[in-house]
Amino acid sequence: MEKTQSFINTNKQQFLDELFDLLRIQSVSADPKFKGDVLKAAEFLADKLKVAGMNNVELMATDGNPIVYGEKIIDASKPTVLVYGHYDVQPADPYELWTSPPFEPVIRDEKIFARGACDDKGQTYMHVKAIEAMIANDELPCNVKVIIEGEEEVGSSNLSPFLKKYKEKLKADVVLISDTSMIANDCPSITVGLRGLSYMEVEVTSSNRDLHSGVYGGAVANPINVLCEMIASLKDENKHITIPSFYNDVRELSADERIALNSSPFNLDEYKKELNLAEVEGEKGYTTLERTSIRPTVDVNGIWGGYIGEGAKTVLPAKANAKISMRLVPNQNSEKISNLFAEHFKKIAPKSVTVKVTAHHGGEPVITPTDTIAYRAASKAMEKTFGIVPLPGYEGGSIPIVASFESILGLKTILFGFGLDTDALHSPNENYGLFNFYKGIETIPYFYKYYAEMSK
Ligand code: BES
Ligand code: MN
Ligand code: MN
Repeated sequence: MEKTQSFINTNKQQFLDELFDLLRIQSVSADPKFKGDVLKAAEFLADKLKVAGMNNVELMATDGNPIVYGEKIIDASKPTVLVYGHYDVQPADPYELWTSPPFEPVIRDEKIFARGACDDKGQTYMHVKAIEAMIANDELPCNVKVIIEGEEEVGSSNLSPFLKKYKEKLKADVVLISDTSMIANDCPSITVGLRGLSYMEVEVTSSNRDLHSGVYGGAVANPINVLCEMIASLKDENKHITIPSFYNDVRELSADERIALNSSPFNLDEYKKELNLAEVEGEKGYTTLERTSIRPTVDVNGIWGGYIGEGAKTVLPAKANAKISMRLVPNQNSEKISNLFAEHFKKIAPKSVTVKVTAHHGGEPVITPTDTIAYRAASKAMEKTFGIVPLPGYEGGSIPIVASFESILGLKTILFGFGLDTDALHSPNENYGLFNFYKGIETIPYFYKYYAEMSK
């Protein structure tokens, strides 16, 4: 990989300039007003896959945003790596909290600031450039197929049908994804577990119209009060979730597994300081690291109802709503948990209100194995470029499609992320370290090298 590495070194500035061009495209999948930009990002990447020397590059249509595809088949007898990434980003709101505009990337403190800098344009682009470097120097040791989707941030609902439809075309030996974090720049890690997700919306209704809170208050149920009570009852005093059967399928870690998990570097004081927290809270009997990785959660993401305009209006609102999500762990099942939630939430409603519960997108939790050639190759690649053997680690976020790669394509995934928890994903001032961007480009070719060698 010597020629590949010197190619990368020579072209560093060019790679960064191109990433900046990609970051300027406002490919927000959640908001239809950015539809044009979403398409532009897909076209941009298709063009760059061609530049990288990939073949059969195309935008493949789905019922939603297109999937960018490209491949380089060097030898049918060699193993094939399927790279996945996403070109869509979260909305940048609230814009006023950004130090510099979200779609005008800048470097400050050796970090790239922009929406998508890390999640997932920066991380996806590392692969495009690593592949280009290997192809340009005749050092690509395996076959590679790339799919980059545009709907990850809105639930990837069109990707599973796509995997089913193109099962043959997508045939590979392993999936490689950079869309997760490492523990720290001096403590590389490979993610071996992600949480799943159940996302619900609830509506609580009492009267047939908003009422005068003096005339009716005290006698008619206030749906906002009721909703708050119902939400509060979802956890007990130990922050244990009260939905019956909720924990039935939760995999409990062995004492040894818990010791290993908690031995990864973590400083609670720094954690609190970074987030300006007076104290942490969570399920009794578990550490912060466990609470954010191997334990399930229930959280309100948004809640509304009643009067929130200027001044004070005395009103007893007719309706209250909330969006409530649950992060799931192995071996919980998203549909099962959504049903348990819906059943429970209706059951705990007082007679004075009616409750409507609907489910949004969900996803299954995943565990990726460490006793595979691909894991050993990924570990060795990081060891080569960081000089440190990476730790396996569980993370709390979700990438629902990983479970589908296994169930539909029969493929295991390597979660080869180079981000950090402090990159402010989905938040104002999202950023990605230059160190991380370049380290990713440098490390990825070694994964191919070791994976090809170990597969022989
Ligand atoms: N890249 C993230 C997931 C992630 C972030 C995993 C950090 C591990 C560490 C992904 O883009 C994401 O945001 N996923 C969503 C789920 C989706 C269904 C909207 C999430 O986790 O909220
Ligand atoms: Mn992502
Ligand atoms: Mn995301």
